[in-house]
Amino acid sequence: MKTLPLISFRNVCKSWNQVTVLENFNLDVTSGELVVLVGSSGCGKSTLLRMLVGLEPASSGDILVSGNPVSGVGKERGIIFQEPRLFPWLTVTENVLLGLANSPLNSSEKKQLALNMLERVQLADFANVLPSQLSGGMAQRVAIARGIIAHPQILMLDEPFGALDALTRHTLQQQLLELHLSTGSTTLLVTHDVEEAVALADRVIVLSPRPGRIREEVKITLPHTRHRDDIAFIDLCRHIRHLITDVL
Ligand SMILES: Nc1ncnc2c1ncn2[C@@H]1O[C@H](COP(=O)(O)OP(=O)(O)O)[C@@H](O)[C@H]1O
Ligand SMILES: [Mg+2]
Repeated sequence: MKTLPLISFRNVCKSWNQVTVLENFNLDVTSGELVVLVGSSGCGKSTLLRMLVGLEPASSGDILVSGNPVSGVGKERGIIFQEPRLFPWLTVTENVLLGLANSPLNSSEKKQLALNMLERVQLADFANVLPSQLSGGMAQRVAIARGIIAHPQILMLDEPFGALDALTRHTLQQQLLELHLSTGSTTLLVTHDVEEAVALADRVIVLSPRPGRIREEVKITLPHTRHRDDIAFIDLCRHIRHLITDVL
């Protein structure tokens, strides 16, 4: 018996005015999968996430979660954007605590969780400062902490590490992967970084340029932890890069 996919895009189309951004997009994601979307800029990756999170309706087609059509935002779906979107008048800890707004925990338990999360993103020393006192990379780590602490059933990340330095990016990729493997959260990640895609994904979905459709789906079966200088890893990156840049 085939299990019901957790997420289904069925013949989803999206256009603004006369411009078709996505055309007959079909994708099923099983519970617990980590799926990475890659494709050239403007092919509709962010639009796909915004529709799944419920910020934007599809022009036609269906987007289903556990078989139910998405209508508006819901706490089982969370998103982390490329830019931090912190509240400037709240401290780092208070910003992270917003991720626990729907949690049944009491306030001291929430505070402890927030501090643990800040330690994981190496920001424990900045718990009580305002966002204006952080660098761009630090602010983004706060946003990542806020998104992850909410522990949504479906976690979406839209180029979350794009603005970070290489070392921080690598650390956070690893932490995202560990979190995913330990909690089994269903994760949809958009990235420009092909190595990030191959390091993390169960499946990489390569989109064609606008109107976005699936050009190819690349299953990544390499066991974790994946080594970026392995020949199989390098070959997969090369294949995906070729699919993105070789516009037919
Ligand atoms: N609110 C909007 N109104 C009009 N056009 C939009 C809007 N949002 C996105 N677009 C257009 O849709 C296309 C896809 O955008 P986006 O999903 O952000 O691409 P990607 O994330 O793959 O770079 C782009 O051409 C963009 O200009
Ligand atoms: Mg985008």
